[in-house]
Amino acid sequence: MTSTTPPKQQPTYTASLIDIGLNNFQIWALQHPENIFSKVLLPIIILIEGLAANLPTYLDQKRLVLGPNFCCAGQVVMGEFEAIETALTSPQARTSRLATILLEANHLPNQDVGGRNVFLLALSDEEATGSNDHEAFRRCLQDYILNDSSITRQQDAIARQLIEKLAADYIDMSHGHGEAFFSEDKRGWKRFLIEYLHYVLFKLDPNDKSTMDFLTDLHYTRQGTLRYFAGVSSILEKFNIFGHGKISEMIEQAATIYENSPVLANFNEQSDQYNGMTRRELAKMMTSIMSIAALQGPLHLGQTAMGDRPLPAYKGRNTSEINPTHYWDELDLDNRESVRLYILECSRLWAPVIASHKIATDAFTVTIAGRYRTFPTGTKILIPISLGLLDENFWGPTTYQFDANRENLCPFHMGFHSVGDRSAGRICPGKDVALNMLVDVTIALGKVRR
Ligand code: HEM
Repeated sequence: MTSTTPPKQQPTYTASLIDIGLNNFQIWALQHPENIFSKVLLPIIILIEGLAANLPTYLDQKRLVLGPNFCCAGQVVMGEFEAIETALTSPQARTSRLATILLEANHLPNQDVGGRNVFLLALSDEEATGSNDHEAFRRCLQDYILNDSSITRQQDAIARQLIEKLAADYIDMSHGHGEAFFSEDKRGWKRFLIEYLHYVLFKLDPNDKSTMDFLTDLHYTRQGTLRYFAGVSSILEKFNIFGHGKISEMIEQAATIYENSPVLANFNEQSDQYNGMTRRELAKMMTSIMSIAALQGPLHLGQTAMGDRPLPAYKGRNTSEINPTHYWDELDLDNRESVRLYILECSRLWAPVIASHKIATDAFTVTIAGRYRTFPTGTKILIPISLGLLDENFWGPTTYQFDANRENLCPFHMGFHSVGDRSAGRICPGKDVALNMLVDVTIALGKVRR
């Protein structure tokens, strides 16, 4: 089904002085990283613009006024489909970044307790830097947690009961924009994600109320994700905002829950194929992965697909006028593939993870504002997934409209850090679990709302 609203004629937009000034300064500063002005001003820009750029419309607006390539949050952004495709399917060197946001290295697992870094998203690929920690730790995660057994659990009686309970909550609770079903964390969408994902991934008992309450408190009520953000996390901890005064203790407690979970019962300590990863290290890695990845991506995509919030107001487009639930109500709910495409289209128009990053392992030249610019080795490069998903040169004139049956949606979707199923080994390992769950939820709730 295609949206019937015609695309707006796209007027030309000019960059503001702030857009131009920020871009020009960052081009210069990234080319001269050792200059005192770069050293003083760039970190401030990284911190502030890094948070702003996480808004879904920010990068799109920059591309509109500055052209396909520009600088943002201390990174070079190459916003054309082919450049993003190449970045997503090539080895990557990494640092402590989450998209445009700077992470606090000392809060990452297991650096927070003086151990080695086991945080996958901040570890480089072997081909890029020589160390194979990323590959080894990822293999460990997949052998124990994200594997065929977790996919099988998604179809068992316990998982089905959780979906039925969610459907009952949906009927009982108000579920319009920002209403109880989405905002409360004791019942509804968030509580479901805690119980369901901890069951599917760790085989924890979803009826163990005190454990589920604790995990809800850490990951959602106290917004555990923010523990990893540079600057913000220290302020939250110092002033005990959202209860962050106790957050590091709670992270250790959550790691102990994961460490004692049934899926890690027969853990093979210090195996060479996992570079000696210990059970505790894997559990600590999972506390961060649950907070940052597993409980955030599906939360946001579900909110979009179930109409909790309007689609982003991309400048000069009418995307925010589209209500995805109109398409949901027209779906053939007995056809899993069409439901899956519906979810993929929602995540194309509003990518739950807007970007990723890599570090240049060689000097490189790129055209910005009509001129060739060369950046040194070590420059941070943003991989703007959301811009790839919204590139009119690839998706055509209906790019900003809703069309779940559009050509190439599946094989060229970039939302899971890949191009369809192609990647250089960093495709989101939770993709199948997330999509299976979202398809099951969209079908079950779609049936009860009709
Ligand atoms: C709608 C849901 C989800 C989306 C859109 C999503 C998207 C992504 C993206 C874009 C990345 C790459 C981030 C980067 O490297 O900068 C990523 C990485 C990752 N995701 Fe997901 N994710 C989702 C759900 C999940 C779930 C349910 C899990 C379960 C544990 C998960 C686990 C991970 C892990 C472990 C990584 C790091 C992989 C690596 O660096 O090798 N994700 N995800």
